[in-house]
Amino acid sequence: MGKRDFLTITDFSRDEIVRLFDLAARMKAGSYREQPLRGKTLAMIFAKSSTRTRVSYEVGTYQLGGQALFLSSRDIQLGRGEPIADTARVLSRYAHGIMIRTFAHADVEELARHASVPVINGLTDASHPCQVLADLFTVREALGTWEGKVVAWVGDGNNMANSWLGAAERLGFELRLACPEGYEPDRGRFERAKANATVVITEDLEAAVEGAHVVNTDVWASMGQEGESEARRQAFQGYTVDAALMRRADPAAIFLHCLPAHRGEEVSTDVIDGPRSRVWDQAENRLHVQKALLATLMG
Ligand code: CP
Ligand code: NVA
Repeated sequence: MGKRDFLTITDFSRDEIVRLFDLAARMKAGSYREQPLRGKTLAMIFAKSSTRTRVSYEVGTYQLGGQALFLSSRDIQLGRGEPIADTARVLSRYAHGIMIRTFAHADVEELARHASVPVINGLTDASHPCQVLADLFTVREALGTWEGKVVAWVGDGNNMANSWLGAAERLGFELRLACPEGYEPDRGRFERAKANATVVITEDLEAAVEGAHVVNTDVWASMGQEGESEARRQAFQGYTVDAALMRRADPAAIFLHCLPAHRGEEVSTDVIDGPRSRVWDQAENRLHVQKALLATLMG
């Protein structure tokens, strides 16, 4: 079998996601002692900032016996115009896997087409599948399962929202997205998710959160949208997950945020720092889930 990439959530079947989480749970519990990446290198290309993704991949690779290389796209020849295809071919001669965070999703697809080693999407403008894997793992850990649960998304129909649509498409839970007009997620992903799950897009955040088991949000302006910050601040007025909104959710509901967060904008301080918040577990789970992913793709 050829190499396997992870570019979107739907690259994995439901069974593969469950197996990945079982492995991640063993890794988290400390009962996994293997070093499947011994002698192997993960090349990590970053065209955008990162705290969690960079550190969790770097630490995770090390814990599995391998080495991770941090490659800022500003410092490698890619930033001076070397083609993505050539970068893919060259990195494939040195490294055993490539992780990339960049702007255009098509660039990641092109990298994957020309690399002979597995390619992992570490965030694009269109999706953030590693984060949503960790989020699903966090839901399973906190609530036991995603089966029969309602997940609410409040705010921008961005890369995170798109990956949640992929998760609903694969796993079939109910997903309600409350987004201001003009900031809805990708139409095609929405239609595909709708074919397999109950998925709605609304401007009514209270309706979206009513009885939800998971309440999720993200920043109003993502990386690369800094120039739209003011227009977005206007458009997203009121799209804040605060205590009053959380009271509409299920009494045992958890709050998720991929971070970094802007307290006082998309989420109030009392919610993100309160008892329903699972954001630190969510951040930690990036490490465990990605280690399982690395072992699966590169082991
Ligand atoms: N959530 C997330 O991907 O964080 P970083 O941007 O810090 O990697
Ligand atoms: N939507 C955010 C997620 C950051 C992890 C962004 O793309 O900037």
